[in-house]
Formats: sequence, C-alpha cells, structure tokens
Amino acid sequence: MKPLRLRSFAKINLGLEVLGVHEDGYHELRTLFQTIDLADEISLAPLPRAVRVVCDHPLVPTDATNLAARAAELLRGYARVAQGVQIRIKKRIPVGGGLGGGSSNAAAVLMGLDRLWKLGLGPDGLHRLARRIGADVPYFLLGGTALGLARGDEVYPLRRQIRAHVVLVDPGVHVSTARVFQRLDGQLTPREKSNSIFYFISRELEGSGGYRFLQNDLEEAALEEAPVLREQAGRIRAVLSREGASLAALSGSGSSYFGLFEDARPARRARAALAAEGFRALGVRTLTLEQYRGAWGRSRNRLRQ
Ligand code: C5P
Repeated sequence: MKPLRLRSFAKINLGLEVLGVHEDGYHELRTLFQTIDLADEISLAPLPRAVRVVCDHPLVPTDATNLAARAAELLRGYARVAQGVQIRIKKRIPVGGGLGGGSSNAAAVLMGLDRLWKLGLGPDGLHRLARRIGADVPYFLLGGTALGLARGDEVYPLRRQIRAHVVLVDPGVHVSTARVFQRLDGQLTPREKSNSIFYFISRELEGSGGYRFLQNDLEEAALEEAPVLREQAGRIRAVLSREGASLAALSGSGSSYFGLFEDARPARRARAALAAEGFRALGVRTLTLEQYRGAWGRSRNRLRQ
C-alpha cells in the first residue's frame, strides 16, 4: 500500500490572554488561533507492529516523547489496533517557534491513522485523545480562525474567518513554552476584567477590525526567557508596523513574530525589508476553516487513488 501523505499546518496566536493558573500548573487561557499555509509534510506507512518516527530535523526527538508518536500509540491503545506505523516528518515549521508544529503533527497523525485504520472516529471521536497529548492539539482537529478557552483545548470556530497575508519571522531562537509559563507565574496578576479578545470579536462582527485590542500576555515573559530576542523583536515590529501591518505580534510563547496584512503588496515589501535586515522571513497566508478542511479532503483522495 502507498503511504498516506498529509500536510500538517502551523498556527499563529492572534491574541493570547492568561487568566490564571490551575492547581496542576496549567494556565487558564483565552486565545485566538489562526492556521496558516506553512506545513510540515507527514507520511504514514504501515508497519507490522511498532510505531517509528523518522524526521529530517535534528532538534525533533524521534523517541516516544515525540507528540506524533504519542498520538499513534494512544490511538492504537484506544482502538485496540495491533498494526504499527512509520511516521515520516519533513519539517518546514520552525521548531520551538510558538507555531504549534509538534501539536499539529500529533493531530495530523490522529486524523491520518483514523483513516488508514478505518476507525471512523472523526474530530469528535479524536478530541478526548487529542487533549491528552497537548493543549493545542484539539485546535488542529478543526483549524481556521477559532477561539481557544480553558487550557486552549476548548475550541470554538469564529463565524467570521480571517483571510490575510502573513509575514512570519523566525528569529531562530528556541523558546520553551513550559519555562515561559513558569516565568509568568511570578508576575501574574488577576485578569478578570481584561477581555481583549471579546472586543476584537465584537468589532470583527461589525466588520470594523479590532486588531489593536489584541495582546499576547506571554510576550514579556518570553523576552525575559530569551533576552537576545528583545532587540530583534523591536526591529521586527518596527518594520512590520512601518509597512502597515494591521497586527504585529509574537505567536504563542515565541520565538516567531508575525505581521498580518490585508494586501499582498505591503506584505511582500515587509518581507523583503526584513530579509534585507538579515531576518528569516516567510510570506504565507491564513487558512480558513473551510480551506483547512479542503486540504484534508485532498489528502483523503490521495489515499483512494
Ligand atoms: O500542552 P502542551 O504540552 O502543549 O504545553 C506545553 C507546556 O506549556 C506545558 O507543559 C505547560 O507548562 C504550559 N501550558 C500551561 N497552560 C496551558 C498550556 C500550556 O501552563 N494552558
């Protein structure tokens, strides 16, 4: 049988509010997720028994701690499948960049194996397994523009899906999400009154754009965690704002910054200006819920060929 090939897309957080911390150390969040068309390539090939991961990126573990391997093992146990799988990952999403690469890989493997093993679970049936793998994994079962609540694992798609050009900047710094959250704990103040995402959503429904309300509560802690990022962040923001980005922000716990543009031309200019300053800058686009689903449909057709 030919391997099943899938694309595993990255996300950015358009906004992220940390509302408090739970007893287990996890944080109560309110975040606005957005998928972009930057993707790792994954192929799934049947093996007699074992789950094996092969990856072309030196920083990605290929043992049982790899989130894609955990996804395969969890699903195998849950659905009592004896067969194994070889998971081959071609990395294009920066690692440790706050772009959800590992979580996206895990969700792609859940959805791919659901098909390969003909389990018929779908996103609903996979949700409980997804949230056991990581807080961002359930979001990748849906994609598009979505609100994430609780640990980020309660996900609600927005009616108005964002379409924009995105300039993504990878400063090449690896930031640990767990360490950023720990650092934040020392600074956390009660945030009940803050609801920037609510303001954004209500403005968006009116069609008047509320990007200026959005914030990322992890940014200051991320910059303390990786001080080399601070100077770069200032320069990146300056270029993105000068070229007219409607939002220039850090994604998740970093280290990737992004700028959102309504039109292609200023996005191209911003990307070129950042590249001229020595940054690794990529031009990508947002993916709506429909476009994300469409990409999955195409992978399925490939399986049937
Ligand atoms: O769930 P995931 O493994 O992706 O999260 C990585 C780390 O980020 C966790 O170990 C935890 O320290 C932190 N985190 C958190 N609260 C959340 C999500 C993640 O503290 N809601």
